Amino acid sequence: MMDQAQNLRIRLQQLGKPAAKTLAVVSGKGGVGKSNFSLNFSIALSKQGHSVLLFDMDIGMGNIDILMGRSSRYSIVDFFENRMDLGDIVSEGPEGISVIAGGSGLATLFEMEESRFSSFLDQLDTFIHQYEYIIFDMGAGITRESSQFILCVDELIVITTPEPPAIMDAYSVMKYLTSVKKDMPFSLVCNRVQSEKEGKETIQRLSNALQKFLQKEIFPLGFLPDDRSVTAAVTRQIPFSVYKPESAISKAINEVALRFEKGQKEQNLTFSKSNFLGRLKSYILGR
Ligand SMILES: Nc1ncnc2c1ncn2[C@@H]1O[C@H](COP(=O)(O)OP(=O)(O)OP(=O)(O)O)[C@@H](O)[C@H]1O
Ligand SMILES: [Mg+2]
Repeated sequence: MMDQAQNLRIRLQQLGKPAAKTLAVVSGKGGVGKSNFSLNFSIALSKQGHSVLLFDMDIGMGNIDILMGRSSRYSIVDFFENRMDLGDIVSEGPEGISVIAGGSGLATLFEMEESRFSSFLDQLDTFIHQYEYIIFDMGAGITRESSQFILCVDELIVITTPEPPAIMDAYSVMKYLTSVKKDMPFSLVCNRVQSEKEGKETIQRLSNALQKFLQKEIFPLGFLPDDRSVTAAVTRQIPFSVYKPESAISKAINEVALRFEKGQKEQNLTFSKSNFLGRLKSYILGR
């Protein structure tokens, strides 16, 4: 447990540091590659010199831990059920990223008692200034509760594959989220493409539909190939970009991260600072 003096020290160190940009990785259909993306994208950003906290928010079936082959001693379940501090459940991940494991056994984070949620906010507040990016790997689809949380983050990365059911579900999720929060920034990644043409067409089709029917612009982050080294890496419990840094998919994820960074730089000229915690607070108080 962190004592008060330690908390104060951390807060003093953080004075003047900007709050982390918060991102949630979401999809409509399950199994499209969110967790593999979140982990390897976090690693790519870290290699580019950014400090990243990867937060497994798939509370029921968190598997970031399994994908990186390090079983964290504690998970978010320990925060909610065993009343540990968030600071004590953060573990070191590959390539300098920090990770909060999802664990299993919690039905839903979003229905927890208010006092614990307040404590969640307070503790997030202490380390929101320690990182440049906090990336939440979400479970598949969205529920009413999870959508409230998702809408509090600064930006969303939507993952789809080129398969029509995945595209339809990605569209439905974006349609729903846009109906609640029109100005929510979306980036789109198409995973498991067989060719560059397929990737470009999928992204184009979704962008066109969003523009036409929802008058909504999305930022195309790019596509990742269907690559056998992903399954091999998952089986060996090593992130694919660590297992095969020269593979097509590892190169592609680095490009996606570079494009993301470029987008961030352009956006920073106009972007107001992150108010993730403020939004989360008002959501919780308004429940
Ligand atoms: N680019 C890829 N090439 C080949 N296989 C892939 C690729 N991306 C994902 N996979 C396969 O899909 C599986 C599911 O990936 P992952 O667990 O990242 O999906 P998810 O969207 O997080 O799933 P869930 O919705 O259950 O959280 C992986 O174990 C891997 O076998
Ligand atoms: Mg997942």
